[in-house]
Amino acid sequence: MTENVYLPKLARIASIKDEVVGARAIKTFQVEFPDGDMFEHECGQCAMISVFGKGEMMISIASSPLVKDYKQFSIMRVGKVTTAIHAMKVGDVIGVRGPYGNKFPVNDWKGKNLVFIGGGCGLAPIWPIIQTAVAQRSDFANITVFYGGRSSRDIMYRAELEKLRGVADVHLSVDQAEEGWEGYCGFVPANVMSTGVAPDNAIAITCGPPIMIKYVIQNLKGLGFADEQIYTTIENKMKCGIGKCGRCNVGKDYVCVSGPVYSWAQLKDLPQEY
Ligand SMILES: Cc1cc2nc3c(=O)[nH]c(=O)nc-3n(C[C@H](O)[C@H](O)[C@H](O)COP(=O)(O)OP(=O)(O)OC[C@H]3O[C@@H](n4cnc5c(N)ncnc54)[C@H](O)[C@@H]3O)c2cc1C
Ligand code: FES
Repeated sequence: MTENVYLPKLARIASIKDEVVGARAIKTFQVEFPDGDMFEHECGQCAMISVFGKGEMMISIASSPLVKDYKQFSIMRVGKVTTAIHAMKVGDVIGVRGPYGNKFPVNDWKGKNLVFIGGGCGLAPIWPIIQTAVAQRSDFANITVFYGGRSSRDIMYRAELEKLRGVADVHLSVDQAEEGWEGYCGFVPANVMSTGVAPDNAIAITCGPPIMIKYVIQNLKGLGFADEQIYTTIENKMKCGIGKCGRCNVGKDYVCVSGPVYSWAQLKDLPQEY
């Protein structure tokens, strides 16, 4: 009999961490596959997560492919399914199907300077590359991370980012001045510009709100980055995740199959439907 491609694997929530609380709450879930259904994935790929009786949603796999005993997902509460998963407890079971989408060409970046630029929940899709680059530190040149939230309470992976300072150049920011904040005050694109990252032998990877990505790319171009040196992801709404329903198209591309990872050289020629 043909395999049902919509059938999820069952995963048990092994841990839940509150990253951000309040209106834009983000929780990080680590899930295990008790039936031995763990799958391999590549940096940049996603999975369709189901909360039974509520629905499905596409979420970036936020753990490194080098981690073999769990998959990590960091999820912002915005609507029906995200609210349902935020109410779940350790030991509860969710559905996971995937991995879906293309990948960041990390192997092609060996020997290069990596510049990561994230905002809000946009650190999740690039976190697997950061973790992989740190684990394989000698394969890469400088690692620089820019990440910002609206306030210090909106910074996700805070402890992990602090730990990164030993091996990477970490620039944290908050949108507005805040008492006790020692990092940059202002928007992420401005932080990138003020630090003046050099484009030589570099790849810049940016994820976050579309408005942030727009100005980050503009500023990277201003600093001399070529279109081929800039990578991002696009998160068009998705339904099937496997190129069947047509829900996610941008021009001729189904983003769930051809994306979500694009270089700016590829993306700038697609219609602005993202
Ligand atoms: C490739 C990809 C990777 C993603 N990775 C992550 C991730 O790592 N973490 C995370 O928190 N979210 C991620 N998302 C977004 C996530 O899929 C949506 O937030 C989720 O589907 C919302 O489900 P919901 O039922 O809670 O919201 P709904 O009840 O469906 O919607 C609530 C509100 O959010 C809007 N919305 C829903 N989905 C999207 C979307 N994809 N883009 C823009 N607006 C949307 C709706 O229009 C509505 O206003 C990703 C999306 C894609 C396509
Ligand atoms: S989500 Fe169905 S074609 Fe992409």
